[in-house]
Amino acid sequence: MIRADRLITDCRLATMSTEGEPYGAIDDGAILIRDVRIAWVGARADLPKHEATETDRLDGRWVTPGLIDCHTHLVFGGDRSGEFEQRLNGATYEDIARAGGGIVSTMAATRAASEDELYASALTRLAGLKATGVTTVEIKSGYGLERGTELTMLRVARRIGREAGVRVRTSYLGLHAVPPEHRGDRAAYVDLAIDDILPAAHAEGLVDAVDGFCEGIAFSPAQIARLFAVAAELGLPVKLHAEQLSNLGGAALAAQHGALSADHLEYLDEAGVMAMAAAGTVAVILPGAFYTLHERQAPPIDLLRRHGVPMAVATDMNPGSSPMASLLLAMNMACTLFRLTPAEALAGATVHAAKALGLSDRGQLVAGQVADLAVWTCAHPAELAYRIGFNPLHQRIIGGVL
Ligand code: NIG
Ligand code: FE
Repeated sequence: MIRADRLITDCRLATMSTEGEPYGAIDDGAILIRDVRIAWVGARADLPKHEATETDRLDGRWVTPGLIDCHTHLVFGGDRSGEFEQRLNGATYEDIARAGGGIVSTMAATRAASEDELYASALTRLAGLKATGVTTVEIKSGYGLERGTELTMLRVARRIGREAGVRVRTSYLGLHAVPPEHRGDRAAYVDLAIDDILPAAHAEGLVDAVDGFCEGIAFSPAQIARLFAVAAELGLPVKLHAEQLSNLGGAALAAQHGALSADHLEYLDEAGVMAMAAAGTVAVILPGAFYTLHERQAPPIDLLRRHGVPMAVATDMNPGSSPMASLLLAMNMACTLFRLTPAEALAGATVHAAKALGLSDRGQLVAGQVADLAVWTCAHPAELAYRIGFNPLHQRIIGGVL
C-alpha cells in the first residue's frame, strides 16, 4: 500500500528514461507523489494499491519531466539592442567586444543596478522560461567582474531560487571578460577572479559550479586551467564556454578536468569530442547564440552522436548573444538549425540538462526523483520542438505542488 499526497492519472508520460524508445513513453500512465518526490510511476493498469489525498485527472495530456535550462545568464542590468543594430550594420560580435562593448557594456549596467533592480529585471525574463515549462534554471555570474557585483549577482540568483517558483543552480563566471580597470594588466584580473572572488563567493555558499569563457576575446586555455585547479581545491565542479567562435581546445581541456559540460562547441573537432566522450562531459548546444550572431558553422552533432556524448539544449539567455527566454524555442532551433531530432531536443532539456548540472535527482519520470513535472496540451511530445511561438504548457508542478 502506497500512501500518496497526489495521484496524477488519465495522462500519457514521456518518462525520458534511457531504456526503450526515445521518449520512454507510457500511453496510459499514472504517477504517485509523496513528500515532494515521485513514489511510483508507470502504466495505469499496473498502479499498486494506494491511498492519495488528491487526484488530478489530466484528460489525456502529456506529462514530461519539468524542463531544465542548464545554461543562462539570467541576471544582468540594461540591454544590448544597440549592438543588435550595430551587427546588422556590419560590425561583428568580436569587433564590438574588442571596442569595449559586449560583455563589458552589460558589466557597466550591472554594476550600476541595485540588488532589487537586478532581481526584478531577472524575473521578467524568468517569466518566459517558466511559461515554457522550466522548473530548474542555471544562472551564471560574469557581469560584475569585481568582487562586490559578482557576489551580488549570485545572491540574486539564490534569491530567485528561494522566492520565484523555480529551482536554481549557480555558476561562478568571473573569467567572462576583462573589466576596463584591468585592461592594462589582464593577469592581475585573472588572479583576482581566481584567488579572491571565487573563494569569497564559495565561502558564502553562492557557487554550485565554476564556469569560464575560453576564447580569443576572453581567456586562454592556460588561464582556464588555473581556474579549474582552484575549483578542484574548493571541491567545485567545472564547466566551460568552449569553441564558440574558434577552436582553442577548450572542450578537451574541460574534459581533462572532469567537467560537467562544455558549452557552445561550434568549432569543436573530433579530438575534443573524443575527450568529452571519455570524461562523460555533456555537450550543451546553444542554438540561440548561433542564430543571433548569424554564425555559419554548426556544432559537430554527428560526431557527438557517433561518440555517444550526451547533448543538452539551453537558451543561453543573455543580453548579447542570445536574448531568448523560451526553452521550447531553443529546442526548435536545435532541431531546425542543428538537425537534432525532437526526442533528442527533449532529452536535451530534461535528462541530459540534469547531467550537465551534475544532478541525478531530476530530469526523468522515475521513482525517487523530485516530482518536477510539466503538463502539456498536445497530441505528441514531438510537438514541443515542432511548434514555433505556440505554447502548449498546461501546468508546471514543482516538488509535487502545482
Ligand atoms: O554564452 N560567450 C560568452 N558568453 C555569453 C555571451 C555573453 C554576452 O554577450 O553578454 C554566451 O554567449
Ligand atoms: Fe553563455
